[in-house]
Amino acid sequence: MNNNNNDFSLNQRIPSVMIADEEVDFNQYLSSAEMSAIEHEVSIMETRESVGIEALKIVQQHRGWISDDSLIAIAQCLNISSAQLEGVATFYNLIYRQKVGHYVIHLCDSISCHLTGYDEILNVIKQHLNIVYGQTTSDGQFTLLSNVCLGSCDKSPAMMIGGKHYHSLTSDSVVAILNGLSQNVGEGND
Ligand code: FES
Repeated sequence: MNNNNNDFSLNQRIPSVMIADEEVDFNQYLSSAEMSAIEHEVSIMETRESVGIEALKIVQQHRGWISDDSLIAIAQCLNISSAQLEGVATFYNLIYRQKVGHYVIHLCDSISCHLTGYDEILNVIKQHLNIVYGQTTSDGQFTLLSNVCLGSCDKSPAMMIGGKHYHSLTSDSVVAILNGLSQNVGEGND
């Protein structure tokens, strides 16, 4: 069974009962590692407010995605409103406001990739993982999302997984990449 979702970027929260800001105490919620990484960013920026995106990335790195309570805790820590931080999170498509798999596949669906085999690559991924855009595999290993141009148009089709770019994709190379990553998770190497 797959997790259905119609938002291919997943940087918008799932409509639900919003947690009240007062229900979260960032001092207790954020780990010392998260706090010290955020404070490091604060020390090199002019205002706490300007650390929003970096703080979101830090917490996402530790927790995999940004839940409502994570968002509220970060906003408290930076002395900004949660609505203001939500705006930042929504604008940035690499912040996940919904739970994602261990690996998030960002497949480029812009023009150069469309001209060089995007459809075939998408079909291979869909068939190999048995998911469509916005879904996560039942074992929680992969989430599939579309992405605008990844800047590798001369080596298209392209995708990005875990910040790593993969170029000149073919059906065989995509399957090999996915199998390799899957094996990493199975062996606890990633
Ligand atoms: S169009 Fe796909 S990388 Fe630029």
